Amino acid sequence: MAKLLVDLGERSYEIIIAAGLLDKVGDLIAARSGANQLLLVSNPLVFSLYGEKVLTALSGQGFDVDVALMPDGESYKNIKEAMKIIDRAVHIGLERSSAVVALGGGVVGDLAGLVAALYQRGIEFIQIPTTLLAQVDSSVGGKVAVNHRRGKNLIGAFHQPAVVLIDTDTLATLSVRDYLSGLGEVVKYAIAFDADLFTYLEQHQEHILNRDPSALQHLIQRCCQLKSIVVARDEREGGVRMSLNLGHTFGHALEKIGHYQEHTHGEAVAMGTMAAAFLSNQLDILSEDELRRIGFLLGSLHLPAKLPDTPAATIYRNMLTDKKVQAKKLRLVLPEAIGSYTIRDDVPRHMIIKAINAAQHIQK
Ligand SMILES: NC(=O)c1ccc[n+]([C@@H]2O[C@H](COP(=O)([O-])OP(=O)(O)OC[C@H]3O[C@@H](n4cnc5c(N)ncnc54)[C@H](O)[C@@H]3O)[C@@H](O)[C@H]2O)c1
Ligand SMILES: [Zn+2]
Repeated sequence: MAKLLVDLGERSYEIIIAAGLLDKVGDLIAARSGANQLLLVSNPLVFSLYGEKVLTALSGQGFDVDVALMPDGESYKNIKEAMKIIDRAVHIGLERSSAVVALGGGVVGDLAGLVAALYQRGIEFIQIPTTLLAQVDSSVGGKVAVNHRRGKNLIGAFHQPAVVLIDTDTLATLSVRDYLSGLGEVVKYAIAFDADLFTYLEQHQEHILNRDPSALQHLIQRCCQLKSIVVARDEREGGVRMSLNLGHTFGHALEKIGHYQEHTHGEAVAMGTMAAAFLSNQLDILSEDELRRIGFLLGSLHLPAKLPDTPAATIYRNMLTDKKVQAKKLRLVLPEAIGSYTIRDDVPRHMIIKAINAAQHIQK
């Protein structure tokens, strides 16, 4: 079992990572929360797989638990579904001293977290993430949100969890596509922050693709550690937290063009990272050899590197509507070498178009 601390003063919390942790969530929450009453938010799929186990663990500690299920899918991460959970909270008389517990992937975590942030001006929130993406990224850091029909995550808040409980065993039931989507974020962490992690990914592809328990523990632990460090330094994304957006400005444009259906988030991040790597190489920031290693790693982890054939100008235009754009300036996080990054807001349009073109013509 690994325990990490997200150091945020009085809002500090632990991330606990282990195989088989679901059986212990009752004890772990009881030791870290004053709540007696819990509202467990999940979706029908995740609840059918793990609901009973979690409820047994919670009732073993005497918690009074209500369950609210939201439909499965990104298209339900909206304010209407969040309101239904809030209605449920009002109906059961959830109190200020109660807690919302999210059991599921990033969609459930983001929506349940927003409910916890809004209900009675904010009640305690506990994350039990069950996808790789949620375990390495979305459950840590306190960004909670739902989508608006005009844009992703437009309605949100910062609301840190009281604890993040990660059971790596839950990844056994995840679809291949969702598992790979999480790996897209793992590769992002390695390129932006950690050359050793990158080498580990290069050397353990088989173990990783087979979801070997020790590989999972290592990856999740390292990514959570990296994210905790970044979040502790910059909780509200005024500076260094932006680095977590490596590959995301390109990636968000691709997700948007594909109406959030064609590519998973991690696939889009993988392609976006490749485009960012080409751009870095053209700007003489990243060596030819490192560019090649990035493309090779993505391919060997079964992640897409080649961008779709959408005209580069369309991709560029969609990049400009990203909510991270400030004063119409694209601020890009670019790999400086494997394991470090730089932020640039002075890259001319033609260079970005050229990088997109290059990433569209990778030989498979
Ligand atoms: N808050 C943040 O900082 C942050 C960061 C990155 C992404 N996100 C958000 O996360 C969301 C994507 O999250 P996601 O990739 O986890 O998608 P998701 O929550 O939709 O989960 C993917 C699928 O896996 C299923 N599932 C979940 N756990 C499972 C399990 N253990 N076994 C089998 N199936 C399981 C889900 O029901 C769903 O069908 C997006 O909405 C994105 O905006 C948030
Ligand atoms: Zn992401």
